[in-house]
Amino acid sequence: MSERIQIAIDGHSSTGKSTLAKALAKHLGILYLDSGAMYRAVALYQMRHNLNDQELIEQLDRVEVSFNAQNAICLNGVVVENEIRKMEVSNKVSGVAQIPEVRRKLVELQQKVPQSVVMDGRDIGTVVFPSARLKLFMTARTEIRAQRRYNELIAKGDKVSLEEVLENLKSRDFQDENRDTDPLRAAADAIYFDNSDLSLDQQLEKAIQLYQERV
Ligand code: DC
Repeated sequence: MSERIQIAIDGHSSTGKSTLAKALAKHLGILYLDSGAMYRAVALYQMRHNLNDQELIEQLDRVEVSFNAQNAICLNGVVVENEIRKMEVSNKVSGVAQIPEVRRKLVELQQKVPQSVVMDGRDIGTVVFPSARLKLFMTARTEIRAQRRYNELIAKGDKVSLEEVLENLKSRDFQDENRDTDPLRAAADAIYFDNSDLSLDQQLEKAIQLYQERV
């Protein structure tokens, strides 16, 4: 059997991790998985059922998170790709991602992926795939990240202000970096990748080069 390639792309919210991860996976002909979507799906479940954290923990066995053949995130078998990107879910998800039981469940699912994969998230290089072939830690200036997320939300028809998006980003950064379980940290062997001033093509070229250096 050929070697399973694991590539970890971590970093703050809205640094363009998923855009680069998707492009790199496509270039290499391997799977892309968005681990943040899994946390968002659990947050959506909590919201829909109006549960507090303790109730969510008690019901975790009933929360089934998966990706369908088109790679869309499913909650209990139903595609929830659009719902999980809404601002209300974004406001809730950092809280859900702090619950150790939720992290344990999702990390286990992520580690079970049987094929070669590019996975993006916050703890992929540190916890999920500590021996990943390539680990990138993406950063970009905060105003640039806020503008990118704002453009995405507006394009989807969400009514938000740039200030609101900026505040949400800052608060998620803080929560992601300061939670007790698996906080956002660059792995010791991760490569810092600032894409503030790079086009997607330039990012992809750089990522491919870094990958090839590690083969
Ligand atoms: O990447 P994103 O913005 O869709 O992630 C949603 C939230 O989930 C974010 O607040 C951090 C959390 N998350 C996490 O804690 N660990 C991961 N591997 C991925 C996301």
